[in-house]
Amino acid sequence: MGARFIGWGTAVPDRVVTNDELSQTLDTSDQWITERTGIKERRIGGSARTLGAEAGRRALADAGVEPGDVDFLILATTTPDRITPATATLVAHDLGLSCPAMDLNAACSGFMYAVRTAYGLIETGTRRVLVMGAENLSRWTDWNDRNIAVLLADGAGAAVLEHDPTENDLLSFCLGAEGADADLLTCEHGGYIEMDGKEVFRRAVRVVVDSAEKALTAAGVTADQLSLVVPHQANIRIIQAACQRLNVEMDRAVVVLDRYGNTSSASIPLAVADARAHDRIHKGDYALLTGFGAGMTWASAVVRWSR
Ligand code: COA
Repeated sequence: MGARFIGWGTAVPDRVVTNDELSQTLDTSDQWITERTGIKERRIGGSARTLGAEAGRRALADAGVEPGDVDFLILATTTPDRITPATATLVAHDLGLSCPAMDLNAACSGFMYAVRTAYGLIETGTRRVLVMGAENLSRWTDWNDRNIAVLLADGAGAAVLEHDPTENDLLSFCLGAEGADADLLTCEHGGYIEMDGKEVFRRAVRVVVDSAEKALTAAGVTADQLSLVVPHQANIRIIQAACQRLNVEMDRAVVVLDRYGNTSSASIPLAVADARAHDRIHKGDYALLTGFGAGMTWASAVVRWSR
């Protein structure tokens, strides 16, 4: 049994907010943000529903799948439009799906948690799953807090995973959660996202490297066989530190945070779509998809592209 990615789609708001624009209202600068994070600009606007629906529509079109042929929708989000109902039910309605639909919150690891869950569904008989990460982080951002406002942004990315009796894209997973670290990155009801950036940074590098090594071992793939590393897009220095420890040169890493900032669960599908657009994904190549986030959660997967 196998599960294959058969289509991808993304959506980002039109509104571009540059570092210079943020510097007009915050005690920060393009130089500081660029050097400390790698981010140059981000997209702000929309909602998890609108962005998720747009990304989902594009993924279905890319896959050549009709809405009626989707058997399950999993929408990963940290920022649902409402506490209830699940944003997934609204997106399913917008897309004309007639299947089960649920939200999943694993913070910035959400997309990879959704892929793992979809894989399990496919293993037990579900044929086609639409997975997506859709975020509206700007709504929960204190725009007067320079520690946070320069990092977070909005966006969505989606993929269609389909059962295949002969081919399999998903060779291994390593997921985890450590609730003892929950206070490092939080958002209370009605509040704003807060974090201990330095500590999140340290732990992020540790869990990415650890889960990546475990996923590689489970897949029987070595780091030098990877043609691409698609990491969660939080900070270029986290990506550099993780790649260095994994012995992967930076030209094998996909980086889109310069244009999109940290879009939480949307960041990995946004990066995969960018790699596809730049012809960096080829049949038979190995890739490592790896995320981390509040919780703390982490999730790595080794993929061999079948298309
Ligand atoms: N502009 C200018 N100065 C800023 C700033 C900003 N936007 N944000 C913080 N600073 C200041 C700090 O106040 C501090 O000043 P001080 O030395 O006078 O106290 C100085 O810059 C250095 O701050 P520090 O926290 O040491 O910076 P850093 O190099 O650790 O970078 C982060 C801060 C948040 C960018 C970095 O820690 C990070 O990316 N952490 C991970 C966050 C993350 O990825 N979260 C999401 C996980 S999914």
